[in-house]
Amino acid sequence: MSNLVTPSVPLHGARHVDRFLSVRAQTEQLAAPLSAEDQTVQSMPDASPTKWHLAHTTWFFETFLLGPHTRGYRAFDPAYEYLFNSYYEAVGPRYPRPQRGMLSRPGVEEILAYRRYVNEAMVELIKDGRGDWHALLELGLNHEQQHQELILMDAKHMLSLNPLKPAYAPASAAPVSREVPMGWIDGEGGLVEIGHAGNAFAFDNEGPRHRVWLEPFALAARPVNCGEYLAFIEDGGYRRSEFWLSAGWDCVNQRGWQAPLYWERDGAGWQVFTLSGARPLQAAEPVCHVSAYEAAAYAKWAGKRLPREQEWETAADQVKQVGEVWEWTASPYVAYPGYREPAGAIGEYNGKFMANQTVLRGGCTATPSDHIRTTYRNFFPPDARWMFGGIRLAEDLR
Ligand SMILES: [Fe+2]
Repeated sequence: MSNLVTPSVPLHGARHVDRFLSVRAQTEQLAAPLSAEDQTVQSMPDASPTKWHLAHTTWFFETFLLGPHTRGYRAFDPAYEYLFNSYYEAVGPRYPRPQRGMLSRPGVEEILAYRRYVNEAMVELIKDGRGDWHALLELGLNHEQQHQELILMDAKHMLSLNPLKPAYAPASAAPVSREVPMGWIDGEGGLVEIGHAGNAFAFDNEGPRHRVWLEPFALAARPVNCGEYLAFIEDGGYRRSEFWLSAGWDCVNQRGWQAPLYWERDGAGWQVFTLSGARPLQAAEPVCHVSAYEAAAYAKWAGKRLPREQEWETAADQVKQVGEVWEWTASPYVAYPGYREPAGAIGEYNGKFMANQTVLRGGCTATPSDHIRTTYRNFFPPDARWMFGGIRLAEDLR
């Protein structure tokens, strides 16, 4: 399994036990503001209940590490293999994703007990240090961190559907109020290298590193803000087909899109639902919760375009405000030249999703900070809006 991900320094010993337990505890802290009722609701087929995330991330360690690598390991509950398998065909059948909200049992307490049980066994495995599972441990921790962001995305969607507009947590910082003028970073293009290199962890889809040819381009120095996006809306952006890709225009008409997800107009103006409840729109904040279609329509309206992911990666270390909103690119999510899926069930982690999805780069305020790196490739269907997706513009320099 050593070709699973970029080999990293083997994890064992107290420091690595600490890291394992701290990632696990962070997930539980994110769930803690939510009641057992909150944690059980599934707001749409794409989203999962919080407690399902708590269990599934645990299932990952049980299925891929403890089962194969701990002699005599006994599953906490054999039924969980079916309940909490997300999409691994090679592992076996699984409970239908759109029905995860029907799982009133196991309850939150039982799932927390499952987490403790698996943590104890994992700590023993890590302390022992023997076995060919170190890359899987690193993957399991990074997987759990991805689910930490999903917990917040899914909880936000769930809470937004409640007319009481409940807050997940009080606001931790004042909204951005100072507008930064738009600037541009020139990229000269030519033959460049992109993709992950080195010994730090990366997901398989970030490599192999390879050469690409880029024509000269410019990348916006910061993401598009809400004030700028509001100008697009007020200019009839959602009523004028000339800005839209065909599939995007279908979404506008069939789903009644008139603004980003979580924007609502009332007598006082635009209100935005956030994890700290509803509040007035802030013009200087990066626009968020738009689909790739809205991002592309905005870019066309603005006389620009979306960046290709290769342009983004080569210029990312020169731009501002990376990590506030995920940034839609114009690039389809496909394998890099030379990519090979890892062998076995874990090969299903990323590779099998390489169709009908669009790449996002960067990261958002819900992303664990050590996940934000220039080679990271996030991906979602182009009509998805519940992730924290925003817009960075690009243009040709020819
Ligand atoms: Fe997962």
